[in-house]
Amino acid sequence: MQHRTLTFPEDFIWGAATSSYQIEGAWDEDGKGESIWDRFTHTPGNIANGDTGDIACDHYHRWPEDIALMKELGLQAYRFSISWPRILPIGRGTINQKGIDFYSRLVDGLLEAGIEPFVTLYHWDLPQALQDEGGWTARSTAEAFVEYTDVISSHLGDRVKKWITHNEPWAAAFYGNQLGGHAPGIKDLSIALRACHHILLSHGWAVPQIRQNSTDAEIGITLVQIPLLRTSSSINNYEMYRKFDGYFNRWFLDPLYGRHYPADRVAEYIEAGYLPKEGMVFIQPGDLEAIAVETDFLGVNYYFPVLMMSEAPIVGENDLLHLVISDQDLEYTDIGIHIYPEGLYHILNRLYFDYHPPKIYITENGASFNEGPDDNGRISDKRRLDYLQEHLAAAHRAIEADVPLAGYFAWSLMDNFEWADGYTQRFGIVWVDFKTQKRIPKDSALWYKQVITDNGLIWRTARSHSLSTASRFY
Ligand code: GCO
Repeated sequence: MQHRTLTFPEDFIWGAATSSYQIEGAWDEDGKGESIWDRFTHTPGNIANGDTGDIACDHYHRWPEDIALMKELGLQAYRFSISWPRILPIGRGTINQKGIDFYSRLVDGLLEAGIEPFVTLYHWDLPQALQDEGGWTARSTAEAFVEYTDVISSHLGDRVKKWITHNEPWAAAFYGNQLGGHAPGIKDLSIALRACHHILLSHGWAVPQIRQNSTDAEIGITLVQIPLLRTSSSINNYEMYRKFDGYFNRWFLDPLYGRHYPADRVAEYIEAGYLPKEGMVFIQPGDLEAIAVETDFLGVNYYFPVLMMSEAPIVGENDLLHLVISDQDLEYTDIGIHIYPEGLYHILNRLYFDYHPPKIYITENGASFNEGPDDNGRISDKRRLDYLQEHLAAAHRAIEADVPLAGYFAWSLMDNFEWADGYTQRFGIVWVDFKTQKRIPKDSALWYKQVITDNGLIWRTARSHSLSTASRFY
C-alpha cells in the first residue's frame, strides 16, 4: 500500500461536467426546436429500453436546486453545454428569447454561488432542421454554427469567460455518421469525413466570433483522447498503432495545430474508396488556416485505452470499436470499458510534448458504476472513488512532468441520459432517482468535496493497473 499527499497547483480548477441533452429534459418546451437527438431517441430501436432525454434530470426546471447542490459540494467550476435548438429552433434565423433567458439565469445563478461557468457550444444536439439540409456534411451548417455562436456569446459573453466550441468531434462526426451508434445514425465513412471537416471548420470560424463578444475569454475545443496499447512489437502492430492514432487522435490534433490532415490516413481513405482520388475535395482555400486558429487551451476527455491485439484492418470496418479487446489484467466499469489510469498520464504528456497547447483542462473523466442507495439511503460507490483517485494521481504525475494542466472536471455531476445506453449507466457523483428526481450525493461526491477543499488528496493504492502483456508507445 502506498501513501502520498498529492497537492495540486494553487490556481487549479476543480469542477464537474454535464451536457444539455443528457440532463435538461423539457425537449419541446418554451419554443425549443427539435434536435437530432430528439429525433434519434424518438425513433424505436436506437436506445436501450426505448429511453429518451424528454425529461432526463429535469434540470431545465430544477437548475436552482442543482446549483445549490454544486455549491454544497464545493465545486469551483461547472461545465455545461448549450442546446443550439433552444436558442435557434431551426438552427439559424429566428431567435428563441426564452432559451437565452434560461442560460442567462443559469449563468447568473452559478456566478452568485461562486461557481465559474465553462460553456460548451456543441455537445451533439444539432437542430434537426439543419440535419434535414445535410447536417454537418453541408458547409452551410458551419456557417449556421457561427451565427449561433454569435447570438449566444453576445448574450453571455460579458459573464462567461471560458468557452469550448465543440465536444469530441470524433463522436459527433464518426460515431454519429460512420458507426451510426449516435444521432443522426448514419453509417458511411465518406459522410463522416466530410462532416468532420465542417465541424472543425466551424470551430475555426467560431473562435474569432467569441473573442469579439467575450473580452478576455479563454477559448478552446475538447477532444476525446484514446491512448493505444500494443501487445507485441511486430511491424504490423506498429502499423495498427499509426492507423488507430491517426483515426482517433491525429485526425483532429494535426489540423487544429496547423499540420493539415494526416497524409497517411488521407492516402488510405483514398485507396479504400472513401475519398475520391483527388482527396479531401471539400476543403476550400483558407479552411486549414481557419481550423488552425490560435486557442487558449485544449480540453481533454479521457475514459479508456484501446488495446491493439488484433490484426484486423481498420479501413472498411464499420464496427471498428470491436477492436477494443479485453485484457484480463484490467478491470472494467459497468459499461464494459477498461480502467487504465496510466493512460491519462500518457495522453497528457503526448498532447503537451507533441502539440504544445498553452494549457490543458481535463474536461471529462469518470466512470459508470451503478451502485444505488442502501437501506440508509447512502451510496457507497467505492469503485468510482478509486477510479477518480487513481486518475487524479495520474494527472498529478503529468503536472510533475511539466504538463500545464489547469483543471479537472468529473464526468458527471449527476447520473443522466447516457446516449444509446439510456438510463442503464450511471456516471454521476450524485445519484438521481429518475422517478422522483431526487438527488443524493454519492460517497465519491463527498470525497471529491474534500479533495477540492484540500486542493489535493492522500493517495492510497495497492493496485498498479500495469499491463503485464502490453508495452506502450508513450
Ligand atoms: C463524451 C460525452 C459524455 C458521455 C461520457 C460517458 O464526451 O463522451 O461527453 O456525454 O456521457 O463520455 O460515456
